[in-house]
Amino acid sequence: MVEKKEGARLKNHNTFGIEATCRCLYTFQNREDLEQLHREGVFDGKWDVLSGGSNILFTGDYDGVLLHPAPGNIEVSGKGGDTVLVRADAGVEWDRFVEYCVDNGYWGAENLSYIPGYVGASPVQNIGAYGSEAKDIIESVELFCVGNASRMVLAAEHCGFGYRSSIFKTTLRGKAIITAVNFRLSTVPSPKLGYGDLRDSVEALGGPTLVNIRQAVTAIRKSKLPEPAELGNAGSFFKNPVVDEKIAATLKKEYPEMPVYPSTEPGLVKLAAGWLIDKAGWKGRSLGPAAVHDRQALVLVNLGGATGRDILALADAVKEAVFGRFGVRLESEVNVY
Ligand code: EPU
Repeated sequence: MVEKKEGARLKNHNTFGIEATCRCLYTFQNREDLEQLHREGVFDGKWDVLSGGSNILFTGDYDGVLLHPAPGNIEVSGKGGDTVLVRADAGVEWDRFVEYCVDNGYWGAENLSYIPGYVGASPVQNIGAYGSEAKDIIESVELFCVGNASRMVLAAEHCGFGYRSSIFKTTLRGKAIITAVNFRLSTVPSPKLGYGDLRDSVEALGGPTLVNIRQAVTAIRKSKLPEPAELGNAGSFFKNPVVDEKIAATLKKEYPEMPVYPSTEPGLVKLAAGWLIDKAGWKGRSLGPAAVHDRQALVLVNLGGATGRDILALADAVKEAVFGRFGVRLESEVNVY
């Protein structure tokens, strides 16, 4: 059943807590609902998908239709040997999916604990944290193709996954709606503890069980990242910039303590945007009601009553400062509307 809300207010639909409206908000349950909306001509005008709203910044009212997936189901869709296939509808809260895997002893999602947002958005920007990315466990993505109202299942190898990117952000943007994601998990323990101080935190809890890893990751995230309910934000506002290794080497001479991470592309390395912003002197600084978080410079926060334009003005000032100091251009990770 489709739920329709004309002129819907979006404040509770974006974790920045920005006031905005859209022409109409449709909440859909399944593919049949999307087929119905297709017949009604909803896709003939301007539209987009509004998922958990945890990676979005509204800089004004949205002059179109937004489609929102309703809460859905998680189910085991196959088992064989050590492998378990789990299917989750697009509207399932991401962390409910991770909790389901941990509760059932399925390995693979635990490092991605406590990330806000919905399952349907996880392939779009290939969410990642603590050495894991959604692509590591995605088997395939179920889609509703808007052109001909057909169903398609796209295998992971065709999803064009990269660092915080996928085909859903590029070629398929505006052409397909993710209705469910199929994940491949394992019953064999495979702890990934290489990132930062995760290993120490997990050892302090008694060793690398699924429950302990989930608990440690959740605690680290809570200590660094503000709760959207208390302080509006969308997690990392910027991507970690990927630059030529020669540029990184030159910067490293001047700033030997600067973190440099490997990237998947040859000749390129990843820098830490949080470090660059911090070093450029913007950590904890505010511009009107928008601020750079004082515990994690990657995160921009709404101090209360900020508009999307306030946040954007701050983002631009931060980008300019980082470029001025290091000659490195930061790109937003958040989708700006
Ligand atoms: N740093 C600073 N000052 C800061 C923040 C960071 O000096 O204010 C330094 C840290 O000390 C560290 C480095 O920068 O040496 C990297 O920082 P951190 O590990 O905190 O985070 P990150 O690698 O920049 C990424 C993801 C996060 C994810 C963490 C943990 C991106 C853009 N961000 O941040 O993802 O949780 O790793 O794996 O890739 C998100 O996408 O919303 C998000 C929170």
